Amino acid sequence: MSEKIDPALPKVELHLHFEGAAPPAFIRGLAKEKHIDIAKIFTPDGGYAYRDFWHFLEVYEAACTTLQSPEDFRRLTLAVLEDRAKDGVVYAETFLSPDFCGVGDVTAWREYLLAIEEAALEAQKTMGITLKGIVTAIRHFGPDQSRATALCAAETKSDFLTGFGLAGDEKQFHPKDFTWAFDCAREAGLRLTAHAGEWGGPESVRDALDHLKVERIGHGVRAIEDLALVDQLAEQGTVLEVCPGSNVFLGVYPSFDKHPIDRLREREVKVTISTDDPPFFRTTLTQEYETLARAFGWTEDDFRAINRDAANAAFCDEATRARILQILEGRA
Ligand code: ADE
Ligand code: ZN
Repeated sequence: MSEKIDPALPKVELHLHFEGAAPPAFIRGLAKEKHIDIAKIFTPDGGYAYRDFWHFLEVYEAACTTLQSPEDFRRLTLAVLEDRAKDGVVYAETFLSPDFCGVGDVTAWREYLLAIEEAALEAQKTMGITLKGIVTAIRHFGPDQSRATALCAAETKSDFLTGFGLAGDEKQFHPKDFTWAFDCAREAGLRLTAHAGEWGGPESVRDALDHLKVERIGHGVRAIEDLALVDQLAEQGTVLEVCPGSNVFLGVYPSFDKHPIDRLREREVKVTISTDDPPFFRTTLTQEYETLARAFGWTEDDFRAINRDAANAAFCDEATRARILQILEGRA
């Protein structure tokens, strides 16, 4: 029998795609308001419908067509944070894409970002959850667009907008095609992460480290196929933003008990736990913890330690980090 995990356990979530966290009912509501016909992206029970990862990316982008203004993103921010707060999340970082917020135009992007940040501050007051943003280039949109995205990020770095990343179809382009964007973001003082080792093998993790010089890796779980790389990650303290439910739902691994998160942790890699795109994968962070506890016998102490590592790896200022660590310890 695994230990029962208290759903109210304070949690830190580092890997959350903003539009991917949109409740399907929210997107359906926007589609109705704007007379956009995207009925085919929903299942009869009201969830998102897709066949595999590549179709998921198409459905994701179809859902994004309903998000057309800063006001839509203000409402999305409140909906997403309300769900996270219900899950005990006290600090979250989210991937934001200027591609979906003003199609990469920096003036438009500023307006979207302002709406998101204002809503996040409101949620901090009313729901006690802190949000930071990571601008994310979308790999299959190509290197040229990633440069415009990086410029948007560099122009708007702030206490709220603290990181830069890369998501999307890992099978398209090579990390070295994105070095200009990552160099630009690093020079602006943004912290760096990139998706790798989800659909690509361990070499994709090495390439992200070598070419993009990131300090965290989104997923990174397929590093387990190369133990020398696993030891390197452990030694240099590279943090993995692991999303086990996403990997199982999308078929990277057949089940939780075959997922490498426990083996990575045993070899002292810093792992953190996130949901990626929770309604798409029909999960919540509490559900992830419960399934991990059942699969690996992890206890609340394991989750407390993982949340401390996540807070220490957060792309935030030191005052915020100290405050979150205090909340995790039950001292705030
Ligand atoms: N965009 C949204 N979710 C993603 C994932 N799991 N991998 C890559 N890109 C994504
Ligand atoms: Zn992701």
